[in-house]
Amino acid sequence: ISLRPFNTFHIEAKARHFATFSNVDELKDLLTAFKQSPIAKQQLLILGGGSNILLTHNYDGWVLKNEIMGIEELHEDEEFVYVRAGAGENWNDFVQYCLAKNWAGLENLSLIPGNVGASPMQNIGAYGVEVRDVFWDLEAYNLNDHTVHTFTEADCQFGYRESVFKNKYRNQFVILNVTFRLRKKPVFHTSYGAISQELERMGVSTLSIQAISRAVVNIRQSKLPDPDNLGNAGSFFKNPMIPKEKFNELKAANPDIVGFSLPGGSVKLAAGWLIENCGWRGFRKGDAGCYEKQALVLVNYDKATGVELLSLSNEIAESVTKRFGVHLEREVNVI
Ligand code: FAD
Ligand code: EPU
Repeated sequence: ISLRPFNTFHIEAKARHFATFSNVDELKDLLTAFKQSPIAKQQLLILGGGSNILLTHNYDGWVLKNEIMGIEELHEDEEFVYVRAGAGENWNDFVQYCLAKNWAGLENLSLIPGNVGASPMQNIGAYGVEVRDVFWDLEAYNLNDHTVHTFTEADCQFGYRESVFKNKYRNQFVILNVTFRLRKKPVFHTSYGAISQELERMGVSTLSIQAISRAVVNIRQSKLPDPDNLGNAGSFFKNPMIPKEKFNELKAANPDIVGFSLPGGSVKLAAGWLIENCGWRGFRKGDAGCYEKQALVLVNYDKATGVELLSLSNEIAESVTKRFGVHLEREVNVI
């Protein structure tokens, strides 16, 4: 089966076997069949919306797409409501559902592609908010001991685009559902980036989570490519963190370099600025390119292969290392 419809880079790659599951029993049945299948060295890929992967070859293994649905209000206290969503729910649909209920906390994370189940994988973040800020716990199926485990916020070891599921427990758990702790009375986050300017431009006089969501959607639509029209997986690299001293050196040589000071004393650089200033923004070779409005996003104009995109990304990272002495770490999962 072709995986092209199942990855937002729209890379053509085939899977040996593809199946979907919509509850844990279906998952168990598939895993039993998988274990009994005769082919040696079989691999297993758990897929959500396919918006953070780069397929570099045909997948000689099983691809199991998580389609566990359902949104459930578990309980509430004075301040919070606890809402559980199935891993297969579309992230932005879930955000819109909560906005309609007036549950606050997800508005800054509007329009991020992908599904609920992947949101803790890299602790998705945007416009000053990360999933960890609204996360309560999750249930995940352990592929080794075949039991369901509950992970609290502390268990997940969230960091900037990081969690235990990307590191120590890579490929060992299938996230089944995630419970979020949302506020009944909103706390607004408008200090990041261009949110306040956009709210002003929109003529918003009374702040609301719905208005913030619309502002975020407007900003995102103005600079990020819509995967329906142009294949991509969002930021290809993470924004690198460097020591203050190194930043001061770079700043002396490049007065307009973009960096944000972090509490610990280090500085987070805008990788997009570094890439643009190595001359890549708008670059295109065959169908693989560096997006013209946001250099941190690599794009597939039509028939680029995963290998072509990966090799473009390597060239970009090498040039950034050479010019600025800064290492770019990939954000996208290369398969
Ligand atoms: P997939 O791509 O399907 O999977 C990603 C990884 O998680 C894979 O390794 C997969 O095996 C694993 N996985 C998926 N589901 C499960 C599960 N249930 N259990 C175990 N493992 C699983 N990200 C941000 O953080 N902030 C942004 O602002 C942002 N903007 C984006 C904009 C665009 C236009 C695009 C295309 C992407 C953007 N991203 C952003 C990246 C992407 O949206 C997120 O990483 C998203 O969480 C991926 O979800 P998915 O369901 O598509 O995951
Ligand atoms: N910039 C440039 N040239 C570019 C792109 C960016 O100079 O081509 C500079 C600009 O000065 C801009 C700054 O970089 O002000 C930051 O750019 P932007 O606001 O677009 O955000 P980003 O740092 O590039 C990060 C996340 C995004 C997230 C936005 C908003 C990472 C790796 N990326 O991008 O997440 O949506 O902030 O919070 O942290 C994703 O993870 O896939 C993703 C899209």
